[in-house]
Amino acid sequence: MKQLSVNIKNPEKSSYQILIGSSLLKNISKYVDFSKYSKIAIITDTNVLPHLDNLKTGIKRDSLVVALEPGEKNKNIKTVEKIWKSLTDSGFDRKSLIINLGGGVVTDMGGFAAGCFMRGIDFINIPTTLLSQVDASIGGKTGINFENIKNLIGTFSQPFMTLIDTETLHTLPKREFISGFAEIIKHGLIKDKDFFNYLGSKQPYSFSPEEIVNIIEKSCLIKKEIFEKDPVENGPRKILNFGHTIGHAIESLSHDTQNPLLHGEAIAIGIMAEGKMSEIFGLINDKEMALIKRTLENAYLPIKTDLDVSLILKKIKNDKKNNFGQIKWTLLKEIGNASYDFDAKEEIVKKALSSVL
Ligand SMILES: NC(=O)c1ccc[n+]([C@@H]2O[C@H](COP(=O)([O-])OP(=O)(O)OC[C@H]3O[C@@H](n4cnc5c(N)ncnc54)[C@H](O)[C@@H]3O)[C@@H](O)[C@H]2O)c1
Ligand SMILES: [Zn+2]
Repeated sequence: MKQLSVNIKNPEKSSYQILIGSSLLKNISKYVDFSKYSKIAIITDTNVLPHLDNLKTGIKRDSLVVALEPGEKNKNIKTVEKIWKSLTDSGFDRKSLIINLGGGVVTDMGGFAAGCFMRGIDFINIPTTLLSQVDASIGGKTGINFENIKNLIGTFSQPFMTLIDTETLHTLPKREFISGFAEIIKHGLIKDKDFFNYLGSKQPYSFSPEEIVNIIEKSCLIKKEIFEKDPVENGPRKILNFGHTIGHAIESLSHDTQNPLLHGEAIAIGIMAEGKMSEIFGLINDKEMALIKRTLENAYLPIKTDLDVSLILKKIKNDKKNNFGQIKWTLLKEIGNASYDFDAKEEIVKKALSSVL
C-alpha cells in the first residue's frame, strides 16, 4: 500500500491521507476509526454496487446506502436534495460521516452534499474510476452542474481521507480506464518529463497491477504538490487546467452529437490543441509536439474531432472560467513544465485548432 500525506496550512481541517493499494475496502476499519461517528452513509451509484459488499464488510457497522442513478446528467441539485433528504430522514447529525463510493460524479456530488450538510460533515472519498482516483477525488473541489453549466455550484471541501482501492478498477469499462489515462498523461506533461516518458513506454493495459498502483501514486503526488500550494486556485494550481479550456468546449459540444466524448477523451484533444498553441508561441518545438501526439495515440486516446473550429471557439468564449471575458491560458514551456495566465489572440487559438483537427 502507498500512502501520501496532504498538508494544507489554511483553511483549517484540511490535512488528510490518500491511501492507495489493493484490498483496502475490506480492510477499511484498519485505517478509519468509525466508532467516533454517530451514523454513516454510503453514497454510490448503481454501476458501483459490485463493490458495496466489500465496503460494508469493511466498515463492520450499519450504514445507510444511497444508490444514485449513474451519469453526469444526474449531477444536479435534485440529486443532492435526495441525498440531504435521506440523511435528514435517517436522523444524521454533525457527527455523521459520508463515504462517497464511485466515480467523479459521486465524489463531486457527495463531497458537495457533505460540505453543506449542517455546514459540513466529514466525508471519505473512495474513487472507483481511474479518472476520479488521480483527479476528482483529491484537491477538494466539489460541485454540481447548474443551468447547463458544468460545476457551476460547488465548494472547496477537503475529504477526511481518500482511499484508492485499485481492485475497483477490475469492473471499470476499458474506455473509462483509457479516459482516466489522459489526466495522468497531463500530470506528466505539466510537471514531470520522466513520468511522461514512462507513460509512453507501454500501452495502458500493459502496465502490471503494481505499476498501475505506482502510476496512480505518482499522479496523485503531482496533483497534491500543486494544490497544496494553492488550495483555492488563485495561481499555480491553474497549471492543472492544461488541455481543459479547449477540452471542456469539445466535451460539451460533443454531448449534442451522436458521438459524445468522455472527459479524458476530450481533454486528450484539448492537450493536442493547447500543445500546438505552446508550439506556435515558440515555447515547445515540433519534436515535443510529435511526442505528445505519439503518447496520446499510444494510449488509444483520440487526438482530433470533426467538430467545427468556429463552434469550438464560440463555446470557449462562453466558458464560465473565462474571467471577465478575458481568457487566460495554461501552456507548456517544455514537456514536464507548464505555466499559466498566458494571453492569446483568437487567431492563435484558431490556428492551433485548425492545425490539429
Ligand atoms: N473535483 C475535481 O477536481 C474533478 C476533477 C476531474 C473531474 N471531475 C468530475 O468528475 C466527473 C467525471 O468523473 P468520472 O469519469 O469518474 O465519471 P463517472 O463518475 O460518471 O464514472 C464514469 C462511469 O463509470 C461508472 N463506474 C464508476 N466506477 C465504476 C467501476 N469501478 N466499475 C464499473 N463502472 C464504474 C459510473 O457509474 C459511470 O457510468 C465529472 O463530473 C467531472 O466534472 C471533478
Ligand atoms: Zn479533467
